[in-house]
Amino acid sequence: MAPSVTENIILSATDKDVTLADRNTHATRVAGKDVDPEKKALFASVTKRIDYSPKIGTELHGIKLSQLTDQQSEELAALISERGVVFFRDQEDLDRKEHVKLGARWGPLHIHPLVPHDQESPEVIILDSRLNPPNRYNTNNSWHSDVSFEPAPASYSILKFDEIPESGGDTAWSNGYQLYDDLSQPIKTLLEGLTATHTSDIFRFFQANTGRKTFGKLNDSDHPIIRTNPVTGWKSVFTNSVFTREINGISAAESKWILEYLNDLVSKRLEYQVRFRWQKHSVAIWDNRSTFHTGVPDFRPYHRRGLRVTVSGEKPFFDVNSGTQAQAFEPIAEAIVSKQEAAEKSKEDAALQLA
Ligand SMILES: [Fe+2]
Repeated sequence: MAPSVTENIILSATDKDVTLADRNTHATRVAGKDVDPEKKALFASVTKRIDYSPKIGTELHGIKLSQLTDQQSEELAALISERGVVFFRDQEDLDRKEHVKLGARWGPLHIHPLVPHDQESPEVIILDSRLNPPNRYNTNNSWHSDVSFEPAPASYSILKFDEIPESGGDTAWSNGYQLYDDLSQPIKTLLEGLTATHTSDIFRFFQANTGRKTFGKLNDSDHPIIRTNPVTGWKSVFTNSVFTREINGISAAESKWILEYLNDLVSKRLEYQVRFRWQKHSVAIWDNRSTFHTGVPDFRPYHRRGLRVTVSGEKPFFDVNSGTQAQAFEPIAEAIVSKQEAAEKSKEDAALQLA
Protein backbone atom coordinates (compact mmCIF):
# COMPACT_ATOMS: atom_id res chain seq x y z
CA MET A 1 0.00 0.00 0.00
CA ALA A 2 1.27 3.50 -0.79
CA PRO A 3 2.30 5.46 2.32
CA SER A 4 -0.37 7.82 3.56
CA VAL A 5 0.46 11.47 3.01
CA THR A 6 0.42 12.34 6.68
CA GLU A 7 2.08 9.19 8.02
CA ASN A 8 4.69 10.21 10.63
CA ILE A 9 4.85 13.70 9.15
CA ILE A 10 4.70 16.98 11.02
CA LEU A 11 3.22 19.43 8.53
CA SER A 12 3.32 22.58 10.57
CA ALA A 13 4.86 23.78 13.82
CA THR A 14 3.06 23.20 17.09
CA ASP A 15 3.59 25.42 20.13
CA LYS A 16 6.42 23.21 21.34
CA ASP A 17 8.49 23.25 18.15
CA VAL A 18 8.05 26.78 16.81
CA THR A 19 11.71 27.47 17.56
CA LEU A 20 13.14 24.15 16.37
CA ALA A 21 14.91 25.67 13.33
CA ASP A 22 16.39 28.47 15.44
CA ARG A 23 18.85 25.89 16.78
CA ASN A 24 20.50 25.68 13.35
CA THR A 25 24.20 26.29 13.48
CA HIS A 26 27.24 26.11 11.21
CA ALA A 27 29.86 23.43 10.65
CA THR A 28 32.96 23.77 12.83
CA ARG A 29 35.13 21.56 10.60
CA VAL A 30 35.24 20.96 6.86
CA ALA A 31 34.37 17.32 6.13
CA GLY A 32 36.36 15.85 3.25
CA LYS A 33 39.25 18.34 3.45
CA ASP A 34 42.82 17.07 3.09
CA VAL A 35 41.94 13.43 2.42
CA ASP A 36 43.98 11.04 0.25
CA PRO A 37 43.52 12.52 -3.25
CA GLU A 38 43.19 9.00 -4.70
CA LYS A 39 40.56 8.05 -2.08
CA LYS A 40 41.92 4.53 -1.89
CA ALA A 41 39.84 3.53 1.16
CA LEU A 42 36.60 4.48 -0.59
CA PHE A 43 37.51 3.00 -3.97
CA ALA A 44 38.59 -0.28 -2.35
CA SER A 45 34.84 -0.95 -1.95
CA VAL A 46 33.72 0.46 -5.32
CA THR A 47 32.93 -2.20 -7.93
CA LYS A 48 32.02 0.20 -10.72
CA ARG A 49 32.35 3.96 -11.31
CA ILE A 50 30.30 5.72 -13.97
CA ASP A 51 31.12 9.37 -14.63
CA TYR A 52 28.08 11.06 -16.19
CA SER A 53 30.26 13.75 -17.78
CA PRO A 54 33.95 14.69 -17.37
CA LYS A 55 33.20 17.50 -14.88
CA ILE A 56 30.01 16.64 -12.96
CA GLY A 57 28.12 13.59 -11.72
CA THR A 58 29.38 10.11 -10.77
CA GLU A 59 27.50 6.91 -10.01
CA LEU A 60 29.22 4.48 -7.65
CA HIS A 61 28.39 0.79 -7.32
CA GLY A 62 29.52 -1.53 -4.52
CA ILE A 63 29.09 1.00 -1.68
CA LYS A 64 26.56 0.60 1.13
CA LEU A 65 26.10 4.07 2.59
CA SER A 66 25.05 2.60 5.95
CA GLN A 67 28.36 0.76 6.29
CA LEU A 68 31.03 3.36 5.50
CA THR A 69 34.10 3.61 7.69
CA ASP A 70 35.06 7.06 8.98
CA GLN A 71 37.85 7.27 6.41
CA GLN A 72 35.52 6.25 3.58
CA SER A 73 32.89 8.83 4.58
CA GLU A 74 35.54 11.60 4.61
CA GLU A 75 36.80 10.52 1.18
CA LEU A 76 33.23 10.35 -0.08
CA ALA A 77 32.62 13.95 1.06
CA ALA A 78 35.69 14.99 -0.94
CA LEU A 79 34.51 13.06 -4.02
CA ILE A 80 31.04 14.69 -3.82
CA SER A 81 32.63 18.15 -3.64
CA GLU A 82 34.83 17.37 -6.66
CA ARG A 83 32.12 15.73 -8.76
CA GLY A 84 29.24 17.99 -7.58
CA VAL A 85 26.83 15.08 -7.16
CA VAL A 86 27.30 11.34 -6.57
CA PHE A 87 24.61 8.70 -7.15
CA PHE A 88 24.04 5.31 -5.55
CA ARG A 89 21.65 2.46 -6.31
CA ASP A 90 20.24 -0.29 -4.09
CA GLN A 91 20.55 1.50 -0.73
CA GLU A 92 17.59 -0.40 0.80
CA ASP A 93 19.24 -0.43 4.23
CA LEU A 94 19.60 3.37 4.38
CA ASP A 95 16.51 3.78 6.58
CA ARG A 96 15.68 7.07 8.30
CA LYS A 97 18.01 6.37 11.20
CA GLU A 98 20.97 5.53 8.93
CA HIS A 99 20.10 8.49 6.68
CA VAL A 100 20.44 10.84 9.68
CA LYS A 101 23.63 9.11 10.85
CA LEU A 102 25.25 9.53 7.44
CA GLY A 103 24.53 13.27 7.33
CA ALA A 104 25.71 13.78 10.91
CA ARG A 105 29.16 12.43 9.94
CA TRP A 106 29.72 15.61 7.89
CA GLY A 107 28.32 18.36 10.10
CA PRO A 108 25.35 19.65 12.09
CA LEU A 109 22.03 18.72 10.49
CA HIS A 110 19.74 21.47 9.29
CA ILE A 111 16.17 21.78 10.54
CA HIS A 112 14.05 23.33 7.82
CA PRO A 113 11.93 26.28 8.99
CA LEU A 114 8.90 25.36 6.87
CA VAL A 115 9.07 22.10 4.91
CA PRO A 116 7.27 19.20 6.71
CA HIS A 117 9.47 16.76 8.61
CA ASP A 118 9.51 13.33 10.16
CA GLN A 119 7.83 13.12 13.55
CA GLU A 120 10.79 11.46 15.26
CA SER A 121 13.64 13.11 13.34
CA PRO A 122 13.06 16.78 12.51
CA GLU A 123 16.27 16.66 10.44
CA VAL A 124 14.50 14.44 7.89
CA ILE A 125 12.36 16.62 5.64
CA ILE A 126 9.60 15.20 3.49
CA LEU A 127 9.51 16.37 -0.12
CA ASP A 128 6.07 15.19 -1.14
CA SER A 129 4.59 16.48 -4.38
CA ARG A 130 1.18 16.49 -2.62
CA LEU A 131 2.42 18.75 0.19
CA ASN A 132 4.64 21.27 -1.57
CA PRO A 133 3.50 24.48 -3.23
CA PRO A 134 2.10 23.27 -6.55
CA ASN A 135 3.14 25.97 -9.00
CA ARG A 136 5.79 28.34 -7.73
CA TYR A 137 8.09 25.56 -6.59
CA ASN A 138 7.66 22.99 -9.33
CA THR A 139 8.31 25.08 -12.38
CA ASN A 140 11.11 25.04 -14.91
CA ASN A 141 12.65 27.97 -13.15
CA SER A 142 13.26 26.33 -9.79
CA TRP A 143 17.01 25.78 -10.06
CA HIS A 144 18.48 26.38 -6.62
CA SER A 145 21.00 25.49 -3.98
CA ASP A 146 19.40 24.17 -0.79
CA VAL A 147 18.57 26.69 1.95
CA SER A 148 20.93 29.36 0.59
CA PHE A 149 18.94 31.90 2.64
CA GLU A 150 20.55 30.58 5.83
CA PRO A 151 23.64 32.28 7.33
CA ALA A 152 25.39 28.88 7.02
CA PRO A 153 23.70 27.21 4.03
CA ALA A 154 23.82 23.51 3.22
CA SER A 155 27.05 21.77 2.40
CA TYR A 156 25.66 18.35 1.48
CA SER A 157 22.10 17.17 0.83
CA ILE A 158 21.27 13.45 0.90
CA LEU A 159 18.06 12.57 -0.95
CA LYS A 160 16.24 9.26 -1.20
CA PHE A 161 12.74 8.76 -2.62
CA ASP A 162 10.38 6.26 -1.06
CA GLU A 163 7.68 6.88 -3.66
CA ILE A 164 8.70 7.18 -7.28
CA PRO A 165 6.40 8.11 -10.16
CA GLU A 166 5.89 5.41 -12.78
CA SER A 167 7.48 7.81 -15.25
CA GLY A 168 9.14 11.20 -15.07
CA GLY A 169 10.38 12.93 -11.93
CA ASP A 170 14.12 13.01 -12.63
CA THR A 171 16.36 15.48 -10.82
CA ALA A 172 18.92 17.58 -12.70
CA TRP A 173 22.10 19.27 -11.41
CA SER A 174 24.12 22.10 -12.95
CA ASN A 175 27.81 22.77 -12.31
CA GLY A 176 28.63 26.08 -10.59
CA TYR A 177 32.41 25.59 -10.99
CA GLN A 178 32.12 25.40 -14.77
CA LEU A 179 29.73 28.33 -14.85
CA TYR A 180 32.40 30.42 -13.09
CA ASP A 181 35.22 29.09 -15.29
CA ASP A 182 33.39 30.02 -18.52
CA LEU A 183 32.78 33.66 -17.54
CA SER A 184 35.11 36.22 -19.10
CA GLN A 185 37.79 37.73 -16.85
CA PRO A 186 36.17 41.22 -16.58
CA ILE A 187 32.85 39.65 -15.45
CA LYS A 188 34.67 37.32 -13.02
CA THR A 189 36.46 40.33 -11.53
CA LEU A 190 33.21 42.28 -11.22
CA LEU A 191 31.33 39.42 -9.53
CA GLU A 192 34.21 38.56 -7.20
CA GLY A 193 33.75 41.94 -5.53
CA LEU A 194 30.00 41.62 -4.95
CA THR A 195 27.58 40.01 -2.51
CA ALA A 196 23.94 39.09 -2.98
CA THR A 197 20.99 38.83 -0.61
CA HIS A 198 19.34 35.41 -0.38
CA THR A 199 15.87 35.38 1.21
CA SER A 200 13.17 33.07 2.51
CA ASP A 201 10.57 35.04 0.49
CA ILE A 202 9.29 31.90 -1.26
CA PHE A 203 8.45 30.36 2.13
CA ARG A 204 6.86 33.61 3.38
CA PHE A 205 4.69 33.53 0.26
CA PHE A 206 3.80 29.88 0.93
CA GLN A 207 3.13 30.57 4.61
CA ALA A 208 0.85 33.49 3.75
CA ASN A 209 -1.10 31.27 1.37
CA THR A 210 -1.44 28.20 3.57
CA GLY A 211 -1.34 29.54 7.11
CA ARG A 212 1.21 26.87 7.97
CA LYS A 213 3.27 27.78 11.04
CA THR A 214 7.06 27.89 10.78
CA PHE A 215 9.45 25.78 12.86
CA GLY A 216 11.68 28.80 13.43
CA LYS A 217 12.88 32.05 11.97
CA LEU A 218 12.80 32.49 8.19
CA ASN A 219 16.26 33.91 7.59
CA ASP A 220 17.70 36.23 4.95
CA SER A 221 21.49 36.35 4.42
CA ASP A 222 24.11 38.12 2.33
CA HIS A 223 26.64 35.84 0.63
CA PRO A 224 29.51 36.38 -1.83
CA ILE A 225 28.44 35.82 -5.44
CA ILE A 226 31.64 33.89 -6.14
CA ARG A 227 32.25 31.36 -3.42
CA THR A 228 35.28 29.23 -2.61
CA ASN A 229 34.47 25.58 -1.95
CA PRO A 230 36.55 24.81 1.15
CA VAL A 231 36.99 21.13 0.20
CA THR A 232 38.23 21.49 -3.38
CA GLY A 233 39.47 25.07 -3.05
CA TRP A 234 37.71 25.88 -6.35
CA LYS A 235 35.67 28.99 -7.19
CA SER A 236 31.99 28.67 -8.03
CA VAL A 237 29.01 30.92 -8.75
CA PHE A 238 26.66 31.05 -5.76
CA THR A 239 23.39 32.74 -6.76
CA ASN A 240 20.16 30.99 -7.68
CA SER A 241 16.72 31.69 -9.11
CA VAL A 242 14.70 30.65 -6.05
CA PHE A 243 16.38 32.36 -3.09
CA THR A 244 18.65 35.15 -4.44
CA ARG A 245 16.69 38.38 -4.39
CA GLU A 246 19.26 41.00 -5.39
CA ILE A 247 22.91 41.88 -5.81
CA ASN A 248 24.05 44.46 -3.28
CA GLY A 249 25.68 47.78 -4.14
CA ILE A 250 24.49 48.10 -7.75
CA SER A 251 21.21 49.36 -9.22
CA ALA A 252 18.07 47.20 -9.20
CA ALA A 253 18.12 47.04 -13.01
CA GLU A 254 21.77 45.92 -13.09
CA SER A 255 21.11 43.34 -10.36
CA LYS A 256 18.13 41.91 -12.25
CA TRP A 257 20.13 41.76 -15.48
CA ILE A 258 23.12 39.96 -13.95
CA LEU A 259 21.04 37.50 -11.91
CA GLU A 260 18.92 36.64 -14.95
CA TYR A 261 22.04 36.11 -17.01
CA LEU A 262 23.55 33.73 -14.42
CA ASN A 263 20.23 31.91 -13.88
CA ASP A 264 19.91 31.46 -17.65
CA LEU A 265 23.36 29.87 -17.85
CA VAL A 266 22.47 27.48 -15.00
CA SER A 267 19.21 26.35 -16.58
CA LYS A 268 20.02 26.45 -20.30
CA ARG A 269 23.62 25.32 -20.70
CA LEU A 270 23.23 21.56 -21.12
CA GLU A 271 26.99 21.02 -20.92
CA TYR A 272 26.90 22.04 -17.25
CA GLN A 273 24.15 19.56 -16.42
CA VAL A 274 23.53 15.94 -15.48
CA ARG A 275 20.17 14.29 -14.97
CA PHE A 276 19.36 11.35 -12.69
CA ARG A 277 16.62 8.77 -13.21
CA TRP A 278 15.47 7.59 -9.79
CA GLN A 279 14.82 3.94 -8.98
CA LYS A 280 13.56 2.44 -5.76
CA HIS A 281 16.38 2.70 -3.15
CA SER A 282 18.48 5.16 -5.22
CA VAL A 283 20.25 7.92 -3.29
CA ALA A 284 21.80 11.16 -4.56
CA ILE A 285 24.20 13.27 -2.50
CA TRP A 286 25.35 16.67 -3.72
CA ASP A 287 27.43 19.64 -2.65
CA ASN A 288 25.20 22.73 -2.57
CA ARG A 289 28.18 25.09 -2.39
CA SER A 290 29.04 24.50 -6.05
CA THR A 291 25.98 23.02 -7.78
CA PHE A 292 22.38 23.95 -8.53
CA HIS A 293 19.55 21.45 -8.89
CA THR A 294 15.90 21.17 -9.81
CA GLY A 295 13.25 18.50 -9.93
CA VAL A 296 11.88 17.94 -13.43
CA PRO A 297 8.15 18.72 -13.12
CA ASP A 298 6.98 16.19 -15.71
CA PHE A 299 5.56 13.42 -13.51
CA ARG A 300 1.99 14.51 -12.76
CA PRO A 301 -0.54 12.93 -12.30
CA TYR A 302 1.88 10.57 -10.51
CA HIS A 303 3.26 11.57 -7.13
CA ARG A 304 6.70 11.40 -5.69
CA ARG A 305 7.88 11.53 -2.11
CA GLY A 306 11.46 11.89 -1.02
CA LEU A 307 13.29 12.12 2.28
CA ARG A 308 16.14 14.60 2.55
CA VAL A 309 18.77 15.13 5.21
CA THR A 310 20.61 18.43 4.84
CA VAL A 311 24.00 19.16 6.39
CA SER A 312 24.77 22.75 7.42
CA GLY A 313 28.09 23.98 6.05
CA GLU A 314 30.33 26.92 6.86
CA LYS A 315 29.46 30.58 6.41
CA PRO A 316 30.18 31.14 2.69
CA PHE A 317 33.46 32.92 1.91
CA PHE A 318 35.47 34.00 -1.11
CA ASP A 319 39.25 33.74 -1.31
CA VAL A 320 40.65 35.53 -4.36
CA ASN A 321 43.62 33.13 -4.42
CA SER A 322 41.43 30.01 -4.73
CA GLY A 323 41.97 27.63 -7.61
CA THR A 324 39.40 26.54 -10.17
CA GLN A 325 37.98 23.32 -11.53
CA ALA A 326 39.36 24.27 -14.95
CA GLN A 327 42.93 24.34 -13.57
CA ALA A 328 42.45 21.09 -11.65
CA PHE A 329 41.01 19.46 -14.76
CA GLU A 330 44.11 20.05 -16.92
CA PRO A 331 46.08 16.99 -15.66
CA ILE A 332 42.87 14.89 -15.74
CA ALA A 333 42.33 15.87 -19.39
CA GLU A 334 45.97 15.01 -20.18
CA ALA A 335 45.55 11.60 -18.52
CA ILE A 336 42.39 10.94 -20.60
CA VAL A 337 44.24 11.89 -23.81
CA SER A 338 47.22 9.63 -22.95
CA LYS A 339 44.85 6.74 -22.18
CA GLN A 340 43.09 7.24 -25.52
CA GLU A 341 46.41 7.42 -27.38
CA ALA A 342 47.66 4.26 -25.64
CA ALA A 343 44.43 2.43 -26.56
CA GLU A 344 44.74 3.54 -30.20
CA LYS A 345 48.39 2.47 -30.32
CA SER A 346 47.62 -0.97 -28.93
CA LYS A 347 44.86 -1.34 -31.55
CA GLU A 348 47.34 -0.37 -34.30
CA ASP A 349 49.94 -2.83 -32.92
CA ALA A 350 47.35 -5.60 -32.86
CA ALA A 351 46.36 -4.78 -36.47
CA LEU A 352 50.04 -4.86 -37.54
CA GLN A 353 50.49 -8.27 -35.94
CA LEU A 354 47.45 -9.58 -37.83
CA ALA A 355 48.69 -8.13 -41.15
FE1 LIG B 1 16.51 21.35 -3.31
